[in-house]
Amino acid sequence: MAFYVTTPIYYVNAAPHLGHAYTTIAADVLARHMRQRGEDVFFLTGTDEHGEPVALAAEREGITPRELGDRNVEHFRALLPQLGVTNDFFIRTSDPEHERRVQEVLQRVHDNGHVYKGTYEGWYCPRCADFKSDQEAGEDHRCPIHQIPLDREREDNWFFRLSAFQEDLERLLAEDSDFVLPRHFRNEARAFVAQGLHDVSLTRARLKWGISVPWDPDQVFYVWFDALLNYVTALAFAREGDDLTERFWPATFHLIGKDILKFHTVYWPALLLAAGLPVPQHVFVHGFLLMRDSSGVEHKMSKSLGNVLDPFEVLATYGADPLRFYVLREVSFGQDGGVSTAGFAARYEGELANELGNLASRVTAMLARYRDGEVPRAGLDPELREEIDATAGQVCAHLDGAQLTPALDAAWQPVRRLNRYVEERAPWALAKDPQRAGELDRTLASLAEGLRVVAIVLAPWLPDTMDRLLDALGAQDRTLASARYGAEVPGRVERLAPLFPKVDLDTAAA
Ligand code: MSP
Repeated sequence: MAFYVTTPIYYVNAAPHLGHAYTTIAADVLARHMRQRGEDVFFLTGTDEHGEPVALAAEREGITPRELGDRNVEHFRALLPQLGVTNDFFIRTSDPEHERRVQEVLQRVHDNGHVYKGTYEGWYCPRCADFKSDQEAGEDHRCPIHQIPLDREREDNWFFRLSAFQEDLERLLAEDSDFVLPRHFRNEARAFVAQGLHDVSLTRARLKWGISVPWDPDQVFYVWFDALLNYVTALAFAREGDDLTERFWPATFHLIGKDILKFHTVYWPALLLAAGLPVPQHVFVHGFLLMRDSSGVEHKMSKSLGNVLDPFEVLATYGADPLRFYVLREVSFGQDGGVSTAGFAARYEGELANELGNLASRVTAMLARYRDGEVPRAGLDPELREEIDATAGQVCAHLDGAQLTPALDAAWQPVRRLNRYVEERAPWALAKDPQRAGELDRTLASLAEGLRVVAIVLAPWLPDTMDRLLDALGAQDRTLASARYGAEVPGRVERLAPLFPKVDLDTAAA
């Protein structure tokens, strides 16, 4: 089965922060999990380089938008391997192949009769590159997201006949539809459509930094239409000489933050319908990572508010896996949630080091101490079977709906179960009694096998550490098919350095 997952393409007006890393990590967990299931996966991320947000930032720095893009794209690219992210392609909207295809598709939308010339007047936020309704602009005409004054804009440009898709969108977002997940965001999109759709500007007359409009070269396309199309154009040129569109379009999941819900759940499907293209299967909307300010109030982490947790710093100290785990464990995927350095340290120590890390070291160390690293061929304790065997299926069911939080919960249960099992069996006590050698054999074999299954199921979240653990367990098959109790009982187990060592923050920060 084809599985195509995307992240938003990020504006190159500044360096990436943890908010951007968040969506990308989530997409990577899905991509890795689906590869483990043997699905045909394509995972796309990239950068959004046109439009006001980038043009304005470049102007402030006294360089061209292209120079700014070329410089900042490197930060976004560099972050990916550091996060352990396995995207199959990285698209830049300044790629000429993208530009050409945007012109083709939007020309088609024009030729299909969905574009007309008009005048727009409204309150505009240059950071969002979006017009605000009177209600959103409020009485003081400020952007509710960026808290900056809005501009009153009046412009002659080309309009996209969004209103013509009112009924199609009502159908797409109907009560029983899973086009937008989770449900509360589907309702938000529905409520927006229910107010009645107005046509929207497709082009900008004043801005120069963008893709030029083939039928009116004085104008450029409004950055959002150019940007949304990346999800389709990338497939056509990601692999030279191999157009992947047939194989992967429509996308399985677009992952996005709730700030860009309207564009992805309303404009985007309408644009695709207007172009005669199939709409994506699902848009999964997540909440914001919030940071507490000095007075304890939580805000969306964002460049303009200056309250960002620098992912590069966290990565330098702890590596990718703890960060991947932390953001997906701490914040329920689909809701807003606070993150903090203190919260990070607590989860690192409490769950990664003390639960998972400790389980792995105890099991490998006991096998080394009591059985020279040889896993006894003693049969497995049936008591663990049901719970261990149920895990992979539960994780699959949750991740089929991009439910990353319950999936990780399910994957974590056997870690706790195995820790309880160690306590209940107390292998150190069994080891003292030669009469109980058989019992000890079986306990150790069951633990090694349980640990192997845990490591496979958790690998999408903790790819590097689980690989090390699976190496120590001598596991060959790392697909999800082998996440069954008894599928590949380890033969020999190597000693293992602590997976989540204590970090001395004073030294690390120095
Ligand atoms: N360029 C547009 C998206 C175009 S997609 C066709 C854009 N870029 S952005 O750089 O502002 O990135 C927005 C996305 O970054 C959000 O939708 C979300 O995925 C992620 N996040 C940025 N800040 C975030 C948080 N504080 N918390 C969670 N995610 C956040 O909008």
